Amino acid sequence: MPRIPNIAIDGPAGSGKSTVARAVAAKLNFLYVDTGAMYRAVTYLALKAALDFRKETSLAALTRDTNFSLVQHLRSGVIELWCNGEDVSPFLRTREVSQMVAWVAAVPHVRSHLVRCQRRFAKNGGVVMEGRDIGTVVLPDADYKFFLTAALDVRLARREQELNSQVQSFDKEELHREFIFRDEMDLKREAGPLKAAPDAIVIDCTELSVEEVVVKILDVCGGG
Ligand code: CDP
Repeated sequence: MPRIPNIAIDGPAGSGKSTVARAVAAKLNFLYVDTGAMYRAVTYLALKAALDFRKETSLAALTRDTNFSLVQHLRSGVIELWCNGEDVSPFLRTREVSQMVAWVAAVPHVRSHLVRCQRRFAKNGGVVMEGRDIGTVVLPDADYKFFLTAALDVRLARREQELNSQVQSFDKEELHREFIFRDEMDLKREAGPLKAAPDAIVIDCTELSVEEVVVKILDVCGGG
């Protein structure tokens, strides 16, 4: 029986990759895996345990002791991330988590553990996985790889719209600073930096709607 393909989608914050990846997965009936949520989950658990974020060994131990599972609700399509029996999904996009996640994501032993879990999710194929290092590190053999980019002002505007729709209050300047800081940390770290794989198809989403990007991806993957 032919193997079901895996699709890797990488890109910076606000490039639209989560919305796009979720739509592509729904269209193909694949599992959607948001790897950013896993880094956010470790950050949330570290904040909850009042860990010292400078202590890489504590962050690595916390990650190693956490069991990650995805629970997909078939009717609604909603996917929850559970950590050691707790649904952490509602706590992942707070200001505190967004501000600290890039520190956690730069710790090599946090990354190596999460990468192993992510590979397990994809081992039977049929996954649309999004993140920063999926095409380069997590699934270098993915059947299809995409790297989404967009101009910074467009990415910021998209995130503001998203926060407004969730009725989350935010400070524009602070959001701007967080994006620049996270982009820098994600691009410059040694382990699994944000980078397009040499064989990824780069899509500049600055002037494209979500639907247009989804159509482009499905055209390539044969699901259009
Ligand atoms: O939604 P947004 O693009 O803002 O962020 P996210 O995908 O939830 O990822 C949050 C953070 O996790 C990123 O800024 C990275 O620091 C980290 N991350 C990573 O290092 N590697 C991944 N594969 C996914 C996320």
